[in-house]
Amino acid sequence: MTTPVILDVDTGVDDACALLLAALHPGLDLRAVTCAGGNAPVESVVRNTLTVLEAAGRLDVPVARGAARPLLEHPVDATHVHGLDGMGDLDWPKARAHADPRHAVELLRDELAAAAAASADGSPDRRITLVPLAPLTNLALLLRTHPEAAAGIREIVFMGGAAHVGNATASAEFNVFHDPEAAAVVLDAAGELGIPVTMYGLDVFYEPRVSAARAAELVRAGGRGAAELGGRLIAYQCQRFSSAAATIGDAGAVCAVIDRSGVMTHRLPVRVELAGTWSRGRTIVDRRDWSGDLDHDPHGVAPAAVDVCLEVEAERYAELWLETVSGARSRAGTGART
Ligand code: BDR
Ligand code: CA
Repeated sequence: MTTPVILDVDTGVDDACALLLAALHPGLDLRAVTCAGGNAPVESVVRNTLTVLEAAGRLDVPVARGAARPLLEHPVDATHVHGLDGMGDLDWPKARAHADPRHAVELLRDELAAAAAASADGSPDRRITLVPLAPLTNLALLLRTHPEAAAGIREIVFMGGAAHVGNATASAEFNVFHDPEAAAVVLDAAGELGIPVTMYGLDVFYEPRVSAARAAELVRAGGRGAAELGGRLIAYQCQRFSSAAATIGDAGAVCAVIDRSGVMTHRLPVRVELAGTWSRGRTIVDRRDWSGDLDHDPHGVAPAAVDVCLEVEAERYAELWLETVSGARSRAGTGART
C-alpha cells in the first residue's frame, strides 16, 4: 500500500531534491504539487517544479500555482542561496508542460475532498499526508477557507522552524520567517481540527548529506533524467558553499514520511513568535517539564502539540535519497527525458 502525499514547495534546490524523491519512491503516491513564493518568485517556482517532474518522468502529477506573497510580510526570496532561477542556474532544459489552471488552494481542496470520500465507510485509509517545504501561506489559506478539507488529511509533515537554531535570522528559520502569520495559522488550525503535525526543522535539516563524489556518480548517468538532475543539484550546493558534501535539505522531510523511525521526535507545544525585535518568526518549542505549574504561565496552553524532530539518522536518509534518485529503488527508473 502506498502513502498518498502532496508536496507544497518553493523550488528551490533542495525542494527539487525532495520532488525527485517523492516522484520516484515506490512507497509514495504523489497526488499533486502546489507552489508558493519563497526561495524564488512563484512563477519561477512553478517552472522549476514542472522541470523536476519532467526529469522524473512524472508529468502526470498536477502542479498548481499558489500564493505569490506572504499573508502580511513583503516577499524576500533566497536566490543568493538557490541561484537566480531558484534552482541552481543549471542551464537545464525548461519543462514543456503547463501548470494546472486551478489555484493551489483549489487543487488541495479537490484532492483532499476526493481522499476523504475514498476513505469513507470502512474503505482503506487513503487520506493524504501533506508535506509543506515552503512558507506555509497556501496551507494557511486552505485551512481557514476550507476547514472541511481536514477530513482528507492524515497528517502534516512540514519543513520549517527549529527548537534551537535559525538561518534566515539568528532566531528564525526561513520558511517560518518568510510568513510567520501563515505558520501560526496552520499550527492553530491543526490543533483545532485535530490534524497531527510533525516539524522537520533546522535541528535535523542539515544532517543528511551527499558527497560531491557521489553527486558526480549521479551526474554520469546523464540523459537529462532524475539521477543527473539530482547529482547536479548536490554539486551546485557543494560549489556554492565550497564544501565536500551538501544536505538533501527538504528531501529529509520526505524521508521522514517514508521511514519514520529514522527521526527521533518529541511531542511538544510549539508557538510562532509574531512580534519581537530580533525573534519574529521563531518557533518557540516548549521543552519544559509539563508537570510544572501551568497556572502561573501567562501564555497558557499552546494550540498545537507537535512531533518535533530532534535527531535524525543522517546516513540512512542520505542513502534512501541516493538509492531512489539513482534508480536503484525507483518506481520508473531514472525517468530519462524522451
Ligand atoms: C528552508 O528554506 C529554504 O531555503 C529551503 O528550501 C528549506 O525549505 C530551510 O530554511
Ligand atoms: Ca523549500
